[in-house]
Amino acid sequence: MTGDVYPVPAEIAENALLNNEQYLEMYNKSVEDPDGFWGEHGKRIDWIKPYTTVKNTSYDYHNVSIKWFEDGTLNVAANCIDRHLAERGDQPAIIWEGDEPDQSKTITYKQLSDAVNRFANVLLTNGVKKGDRVTVYMPMIPEAAYAMLACARIGAVHSVVFGGFSPDSLAGRIEDCSSRFVITADEGVRGGRTVPLKENTDRAIEKCGNVDKVFVVKRTGGNINMTEGRDLWYHEEIEKVSADCPPAEMNAEDPLFILYTSGSTGQPKGVMHTSGGYLVYASMTHQYVFDYHPGEVYWCTADVGWVTGHSYILYGPLANGATTLMFEGVPTYPTAGRFWEVCDKHNVNIFYTAPTAIRALMGAGDEHVTNTSRKSLRILGSVGEPINPEAWMWYHNVVGEQRCPIVDTWWQTETGGILITPLPGATDLKPGSATRPFFGIQPAIVDAEGNFQEGATEGNLVITDSWPGQMRTVYGDHERFVQTYFATYKGLYFTGDGCRRDEDGYYWITGRVDDVINVSGHRMGTAEVESALVAHPDVSEAAVVGYPHDVKGQGIYAYVTLMEGLEPSEELKKKLVKHVRAEIGPIASPDLIQFAPSLPKTRSGKIMRRILRKIAEDSFENLGDTSTLADPTVVGDLIDNRQNRA
Ligand code: WTA
Repeated sequence: MTGDVYPVPAEIAENALLNNEQYLEMYNKSVEDPDGFWGEHGKRIDWIKPYTTVKNTSYDYHNVSIKWFEDGTLNVAANCIDRHLAERGDQPAIIWEGDEPDQSKTITYKQLSDAVNRFANVLLTNGVKKGDRVTVYMPMIPEAAYAMLACARIGAVHSVVFGGFSPDSLAGRIEDCSSRFVITADEGVRGGRTVPLKENTDRAIEKCGNVDKVFVVKRTGGNINMTEGRDLWYHEEIEKVSADCPPAEMNAEDPLFILYTSGSTGQPKGVMHTSGGYLVYASMTHQYVFDYHPGEVYWCTADVGWVTGHSYILYGPLANGATTLMFEGVPTYPTAGRFWEVCDKHNVNIFYTAPTAIRALMGAGDEHVTNTSRKSLRILGSVGEPINPEAWMWYHNVVGEQRCPIVDTWWQTETGGILITPLPGATDLKPGSATRPFFGIQPAIVDAEGNFQEGATEGNLVITDSWPGQMRTVYGDHERFVQTYFATYKGLYFTGDGCRRDEDGYYWITGRVDDVINVSGHRMGTAEVESALVAHPDVSEAAVVGYPHDVKGQGIYAYVTLMEGLEPSEELKKKLVKHVRAEIGPIASPDLIQFAPSLPKTRSGKIMRRILRKIAEDSFENLGDTSTLADPTVVGDLIDNRQNRA
């Protein structure tokens, strides 16, 4: 092995579900005989009618089609709840930790069953039918989980929208999937501050119309408007229905959820996942990647508004009968010790978070960590962006006291579950590497022309064949699905990520190679931020790129050309930041704005982003060939007025 290597610790090896030999044997079987492998592992969930076919997938550019277990039927909520009741009805399913440290509660599988059945009946009595889309715009409270599972129980398709998104973004997502139902709360609470979710919902509905019912959970009791005939209090409605709602029999390929995510171009796409393959893959990855043993307390710090929350707070853990912790707050409230205090309070065994949180806490000082015991911790996880070796080492040494393996899990909204990752008992670790493929995953590295690169190499990451958790389509736009993922390299799924493979066959994700940036682990399309900026009356043109940011991973750097006659000012910068927050949400706030009299363009009018990226990175010594620019002199001005002097 080359580079710094951290072997599997002895105590982990002793009890781990899989060792290296078993991993290799299973992996080989999974790629040599996918039908046999998944035919067997598909049985890990309960089917109403068992499948007789397993894999039916085509990456052929002219006929992209992905189906798994297609003649089987099941209910996802029944798999996450009902089948555990006999054996672990009184075991905690969800441990909820509120924003304030003195707020927490435990929901057993029996209680979860009661809550989800009632919520499902509330949806049914208010006209929600199988196949209907339901928008969920919620804070991190147990009712968010009940809402999603209630949809799954009756076969409605949830579309969760992150509570940090603006009314405009919410409206766009309601409209795109023509959802007539919204589930929200009066207000959310994060880091001691309230978020006006119901008010945002009202404003969104003003824009998009066509919403029949809004179900409102009371979280804070704050002052809100309820629209007669449209808005219903959750706590009142659940009293009117029974706690028995038979699960709908769904086909494996019936949609389970839509989740909007950013891409290179245009508005966010509705990534569509279906029921059977998704659940098999989410539950199997959750078990093996985190080496989950029954009875353990597992905590993923993501928000249910992102795919990580879907697969690894909710569906994977609950399908496995696990205890999953759901945290309403933020890592630094009331202090930077919060994560570790919660680990001690609830005896967390497995902890899964994002590099941006690790970097922020690393900067706050070791004493916040070392003041706590953390003796329950066994496995640590990382997701969302490349983890830099310094952050990895701190996580390993200070948080995990060198006894907890770190699983650096690479995956995407589109992939439904983890694709490249270590397994705690099987994989020697290298800081910064996501290491090796999970079962059934065949990664490859191609050059710009799509030629496969062998051995130790670097290039673009593709996956050569399907796995059960893969997205099936872009909701309402299959052609966009094909064009986005299968057109760049025909016959291959293109991830949009750059990647290096070392001599040991380990994969190192180097970051996006398209116009997507990754800000604090949140995906953001530069095109979305640009279109928000140019929607402002003072802006004539805008170009947005990422630049390295110590805590966020990448920051948002915006080049803005003002309308004729307008003078740049600090005040105008603030106005534009505020405008973008209102259009998209706080996560899209530009970190740096540079007013530019003009942008570097080719003679055909295409903005040369390569140049803008370099200037934003403060590394403009080697800008490459600028002679093809329509006006090469603009570059000097851009460099002179650059905002990031790192
Ligand atoms: C990035 C989040 C490096 C990557 C689950 C990917 C990562 C994008 C890792 C997907 C990782 C995620 N190492 N990069 N362990 N995990 N990424 O859809 O660029 O929000 O394409 O899914 O995050 O982001 P998404």
